[in-house]
Amino acid sequence: MKHRLLTLLFLIFFARIANAHSVGLLMVATGKYVQFIPQLIESARTYFCKGHDVHYYVFTDGNLQPAPDTTIIFQQRLGWPHDTLKRFSMYASHADQYQHHDYLFALDADMLFVDYVGSEILSDRVATLHPCLVNQRGTYETRSISTACVKADEGTHYFAGGFNGGSSKEFLKMACTITANIEKDLEHGFIALWHDESHLNRYFIDNKPTLILCPDYCYPEGWDLPYNPKLVALLKDHKKFQN
Ligand code: GAL
Ligand code: GAL
Ligand code: MN
Repeated sequence: MKHRLLTLLFLIFFARIANAHSVGLLMVATGKYVQFIPQLIESARTYFCKGHDVHYYVFTDGNLQPAPDTTIIFQQRLGWPHDTLKRFSMYASHADQYQHHDYLFALDADMLFVDYVGSEILSDRVATLHPCLVNQRGTYETRSISTACVKADEGTHYFAGGFNGGSSKEFLKMACTITANIEKDLEHGFIALWHDESHLNRYFIDNKPTLILCPDYCYPEGWDLPYNPKLVALLKDHKKFQN
């Protein structure tokens, strides 16, 4: 009897360990954006991937203390819009630091977790529906000079640039492809309409997401939308932060 109970407890314990994954969460916070990071990481410690092994990676030129669960990667400010446009190139450049994780996710710095986000997001290619453009065409880049160009007969969903991820392998593959495409555009002196978000949307047309998250995972603070916020995009004076 006692033996059986022990076996059962061991099996439960083993199942827990076996289901625990290691997850890296990447955030770019150059210039003034660094001020969002302490509260964002605090909220992630409370709500993000509980029961999994999570590590944070912050790309910044600001003053942040590393912690046992947080790695700081120096990234100089590039100026608007390069601070957002070049995010995938930053993720690709430092892959050796986090490619060992099972999953990698990236999010805007000016966000906050307000409810539990867990195993339900773990998939190979994870995209989040843009909260303001659900069931709409979306603001794709449509100029044919761009590698992000989406033709009139393409595109089913429009995804937000604020939260995406996947298995390490898939996420880093996406980061490399998007980096190369943005480079090609820049060679023509071209920047897509919504910067990295435009390229992300092109990528997800060519490489369908294996999981589409609803706008709960990119909910604009202060809006009255029919979703249940889990990850909130904070209201802020964008102009002030981009300077
Ligand atoms: C913004 C993004 C922020 C931060 C910034 C660059 O577009 O919303 O989260 O990444 O670029 O530091
Ligand atoms: C805005 C958002 C931008 C971009 C745009 C797409 O609401 O602030 O970052 O996603 O929608 O149309
Ligand atoms: Mn933002």
